[in-house]
Order: sequence, then structure tokens, then C-alpha cells
Amino acid sequence: MPRILKIHLWPVWFLALFGEGKSFKANPIIGSRLLNRLGLHVIRVLLARMVAHLRWRMLAPDMPADLRAQYHRDGFVAVPGFLGGNDLKAIRAELAAYRGPARQMLQGDTATQRILMDDAMLAACPRLKALADDRQMLKFLSYTGAKAHRPALYVQRIRNGWRDGGADPQKTMHADTFHPTMKAWLFLEDVTPEKGPFTYVRGSQHLSWKRLKWEYRRSLRAAVLNDGYSEKGSFRADPDDLDEMDLPAPEGLTATAGTLVLANTNGFHGRGQAAHGMDRLELFAYSRHNPFNPLPGFNIRAISRLEYAIMQTFWRRKDREAERRGYLATWHLIPAEQMLDGVDGK
Ligand SMILES: [Fe+2]
Repeated sequence: MPRILKIHLWPVWFLALFGEGKSFKANPIIGSRLLNRLGLHVIRVLLARMVAHLRWRMLAPDMPADLRAQYHRDGFVAVPGFLGGNDLKAIRAELAAYRGPARQMLQGDTATQRILMDDAMLAACPRLKALADDRQMLKFLSYTGAKAHRPALYVQRIRNGWRDGGADPQKTMHADTFHPTMKAWLFLEDVTPEKGPFTYVRGSQHLSWKRLKWEYRRSLRAAVLNDGYSEKGSFRADPDDLDEMDLPAPEGLTATAGTLVLANTNGFHGRGQAAHGMDRLELFAYSRHNPFNPLPGFNIRAISRLEYAIMQTFWRRKDREAERRGYLATWHLIPAEQMLDGVDGK
């Protein structure tokens, strides 16, 4: 049956317009060439941006003015020395000794490995727990994410050339979705160019007239794009696209251990090209919420706990499904010691 005739799904597709729904391929309303020609996508982009500015304004006391200015000028802000050398060593030592579940996703030749920093994990890592509860860090995450909400925190290791495979799609410049979202990294080791630093097109988060025109044009054919991501609402931008929008070349943000980087991932970004076999160890957070909700959030701990529990349940269901059908779950379990081999407290 053609998808368009699945009448029972129309309410679901329609409601997705008022939330984070972004797939041009899965949602025929979001992907409608006619509606996008009439401006559906650009209206969502503009409205979401206006609402994000409202929430940023309400959360302004959470971050010093100079850091806010950098964030809005460049699309990212780096805070070197956010974590001191002794804390870094202590956290790395805790991680080296940690035993528990980790999860891994494989994309091309690269593995992304993560440990969710839930209560059970943090109970074994007191220095890491102190960092997860650090008020300043939580405020920075709230402001940049335009939401007073404790985002999910992970220990993350990105391992380049982990296996034979094609190019890692995360290394192509892209915007995560149609509205401002935040991702943050607190690097636990120095990030040199060969480690594949986080890469950002400076200033590309601005909703310039050229960006808006590009978004409009892309929305007309997004449903039939086939790069695996653009059609799902995460538009890829090649050097010609960046040129078209008068944007500069991407730059790799090398960083010393202890640097906190917060970025608006509505700007074009990606992982840097890394030398084969090199990896990055970091704390990672991301914040993505209903872009049309003007409320700045209430920072309720119980809601975060509930989200962690829902995430764990979701993953376990995916594990069972994968086992039943005999394939590897997208985020499959690995032992933490496999993820953290070679990490030490020195
Ligand atoms: Fe991304």
C-alpha cells in the first residue's frame, strides 16, 4: 500500500510538525515537495529559531556574557582549563578501573563507544560524579542547549580506523537537525590534529539569508536525497554548499585536556579526519528538545532520571530484538574494559 494511504498514520505525521520531527523520508508531510515549496520547512526553521532565542534570553544568567557572545558569534565556545590536571588524572584513573556495560556504534571504519553516566555508573566513580553535578558545567549546558535541563552525560571514546570499512559519515560536514541543538565535549586527553578534533564551520549557525535559501532549496528535494542522513533531516553540506552560503572552510578545534567545548549543532560540523587507529576520550553531552516549546525548563532531577531509565529500557529492547533476529544492535553492548583499554590515571 502506498504510504500516503496509511490514513491512521496521518495524525502522527501531522503532530510531528509541532515537535522534533525531521525526517523528509519517513514523514510525507515534512517531506512534501508541495508544502515545502509553500515554505513549510523554512517556516519551521524560522519559528524554531525565534523560540530558541526566547529561551536563550530567559537562561542568560546561566553563562557569563563574554562566553555567550562567543557562542552566538561563532556557533561554539571553548573553555580551556575547565577541568584541572588533578581532576583529569583522578577521573581517568576511575575510568581505567571501571567495570560495567558500555555501548558501541559502528559507522564506516569508526567506532563510537559510550558509557551512560547514570547513578549506578557514577556510584563507582566519585570524582566523575562530582563533575556530573558541577553547577557551573550544568549551567553552561543549560544555556547553550537553551533548556534548563540536565542533559544525558556519557563517557565517550571515538576510535578511528577501528575496523575495515568505508568512510565515517560523521566526518562529513552537516547540521544535526533544522533547529538549534547543543552538543558538548569535555576532553579528558589532549586533542591533537591526528586525533580527529571536533570540526566546525565558524559562524555557520547564523540563519543568514543565504542559509535560509539553501535550506529552502534542499527541502524541495530532501525526501529523495539518498546519502543516508539528509533525507532524515540532517542536511549534509559539501564545500560547494559552504561556498554558496559564503561560509568559511571547516576548522578542527584542537584542545588541551580539560577543555570544555559547547557547540550549536545547527551549524555545520563533523568529526575531523583522524590518523588511522587514533582515538579521542571525552565526556559527551547533548541536548535536543521540542524546538517550539517556549518554556525554558525546570531542571528537575527526577525527569532526568526517568529519561535515563527510558533510554536503558529502549536499549535493552533493541538488544533483545537484535538477538532474536540475529544481527548486531546499532548500539550494542561491549564491556567497559574493552572501551577503556590503554586509559590510565597518569
Ligand atoms: Fe552531528
